[in-house]
Amino acid sequence: MSVLRFENVSKQYPGGHAALEDVSFEVAEGEMLFVTGHSGAGKSTLLKLIHLSERPSRGAVVFAGRNLLKVRGGRIPQHRRQVGAVYQDHRLLTDRSVMENVSLPLILRGDHRSDIGKRVREVLARLGLGHREKALPTQLSAGEQQRVGIARAIVAEPKLLVADEPTGNLDPTLAAEIMSLFASMPERGTSVLVVSHDLPLLKRMKKRVLILDHGKLVDDISPADLAE
Ligand SMILES: Nc1ncnc2c1ncn2[C@@H]1O[C@H](COP(=O)(O)OP(=O)(O)OP(=O)(O)O)[C@@H](O)[C@H]1O
Ligand SMILES: [Mg+2]
Repeated sequence: MSVLRFENVSKQYPGGHAALEDVSFEVAEGEMLFVTGHSGAGKSTLLKLIHLSERPSRGAVVFAGRNLLKVRGGRIPQHRRQVGAVYQDHRLLTDRSVMENVSLPLILRGDHRSDIGKRVREVLARLGLGHREKALPTQLSAGEQQRVGIARAIVAEPKLLVADEPTGNLDPTLAAEIMSLFASMPERGTSVLVVSHDLPLLKRMKKRVLILDHGKLVDDISPADLAE
């Protein structure tokens, strides 16, 4: 079963040129892959279509067997709960503590308070943020804020994690740790799609890589080919 399928997807922004053109690919359950390409190639647009902050102009995005065209209105939050997202700008709630920000997905899905505290502390500890749980996002460094965004995206163990340049603000050691954390998610049932233009990182990870060029999917490289 595929968790995600793009069927001949094109996206034209109002007044703009085509951000995506006839893009088709499929992501298997428990697969981890990367999307790369030049600035403006359409990488963030691709993630926005998965997360329903944008809609395709043509073609279909199918998530867990459901055409997202049919997911509208009140169903959108429900869909987003199945897709953890790490954004280029972290989008944290600035008046809420780290603990509260990361708890949110669990509160929304109705977990018990007693379970939430334990689960959130576990994830914060894994991301090296255990000592910052009471801080407000504005009191954190850029890299710490980014890690809070990552913690929030993974805390509910979504079906799919999408991350837009998740290691952009992190030093190489931390970036490598975050990547190995992502790489461990498929075995917990989460597929992972990461946008990155860090080529050395892509080569090290030895995962499938999709290459976008001016909105077109120009290459789909398998891990075996990367190793050569
Ligand atoms: N809201 C918008 N309205 C109009 N054009 C847009 C909008 N968002 C993106 N675009 C255009 O669509 C194209 C793809 O943008 P996108 O943000 O997907 O690129 P990207 O690959 O994520 O780039 P980067 O690496 O710089 O983040 C660009 O030409 C961009 O200018
Ligand atoms: Mg982008």
